[in-house]
Amino acid sequence: KRNLIEEAEKVLNNNFQKEGFTIPCEGLYPFQWKWDSGFIAIGYAYFDVAKSKKEITTLLDAQWENGFIPHIVFHTDSDTYFPGPDFHKSELHPQSSREFRSTGMTQPPITGFILEEMHRIVEDKEDMLSFVKSHIDRVYKNHEYFYGQRDPRNEGLVYIYHNWESGTDNSPMWDDIWKTMNPPEYEFERRDTTHVDPSQRPSKREYDHYLHIIEIAKNHNYDDKAIAETSPFLIQDPLFNAMLIKSNESLINLYEVIGGHSNKIDQLRIWQRKSIRSFNEKLFNNELGVYVHYDLRNEKQISFVSSSSFAPLFAGIPDIDKAKVLVNTMLERFGGEDKYLCASFDPANERFNPKKYWRGPVWINLNWMLYYGLKKYGYDELAKRVKNDSVELIDKAGFYEYFDPRKNMYKNMEHGGYGGRNFSWSAALLIDLLK
Ligand code: DGY
Repeated sequence: KRNLIEEAEKVLNNNFQKEGFTIPCEGLYPFQWKWDSGFIAIGYAYFDVAKSKKEITTLLDAQWENGFIPHIVFHTDSDTYFPGPDFHKSELHPQSSREFRSTGMTQPPITGFILEEMHRIVEDKEDMLSFVKSHIDRVYKNHEYFYGQRDPRNEGLVYIYHNWESGTDNSPMWDDIWKTMNPPEYEFERRDTTHVDPSQRPSKREYDHYLHIIEIAKNHNYDDKAIAETSPFLIQDPLFNAMLIKSNESLINLYEVIGGHSNKIDQLRIWQRKSIRSFNEKLFNNELGVYVHYDLRNEKQISFVSSSSFAPLFAGIPDIDKAKVLVNTMLERFGGEDKYLCASFDPANERFNPKKYWRGPVWINLNWMLYYGLKKYGYDELAKRVKNDSVELIDKAGFYEYFDPRKNMYKNMEHGGYGGRNFSWSAALLIDLLK
């Protein structure tokens, strides 16, 4: 019988680099990615605590003086990825790391809740607590950065200025923003489409938009204030903000275990109250029955349902009534018998594409959050379905980056596993789901 946990451990160990971080997968993503590193640390916590800690240390070592943590850290050189360090030029920002080159954008703030997960998982709590003690202030500083620099209206909701910050890179959510822009046709060599079938990746024109927003940010030396004033992409994202809220909660819990730090705990509680209130007031869409994105540049909600719409369950943001509305929406639109949960974009919408990256496929990290979120609210049956679907997809297809939600794609030796193979977070989170 197949031992999925052993296979998953092998995937992680093979992707581990001697510099002390783990690539998401070979070729396609040859550096350290922020939210990948967090999920990867959860997997290692079960079988190699030293690597788990190392993963977080190497990420936090690249933190900027202002508390910012970048989305990619370029510890090493590689010519298999575009755009690399010479395009991003993080050195333009006066407070960027002098030691590690990186991008000038971030990714969902997972580090706080990852520390709490690591502490939950390991047996030697005392040892992990001393690791947490020596790293937690840097994560707190990162939250200070978010509330200080990314919340210009002081709402408790932080903005992202690039679709790559959302983690849900090419979601149909962004299509209407691209229509407000008209970037030049940049000349560059894509590398992603040499590793993965182009039908599973963003288009050339989408990349023009992605690069253009970076060019604007670079023109302002990655200054947050200038970006908030000029970026055509300026979004309050429910997934991103839910991760921040979840991480606030974890920092409070961990500081309480550590003892002392009452000023930080008080500040975290103030942020937390304001964030949760604004989140429910501003990001809920009654007609759709879910949380949605808010476009700060164009002053409107973006009225689409995605797996990000359900992520607030993981952070305990909805009350019981709202949670029920969310679950009903999930079941109605995403939960048909012919589908695996949970598609990344509304299968009932014409923009849904079951093969294309964040335009429809199932992602294991979102499923992992939904599993714990549904359990938190007592939806045990549905939680179990999300977990079983995740395990079944990996069992049938392998440790892919994303998966076709249509069940009939997995018949007769065929499978709907797409994107990168031997993908680290699919392996890491499978370990947690199976333990
Ligand atoms: C990519 O290159 O597609 C990455 O997801 C960006 O973070």
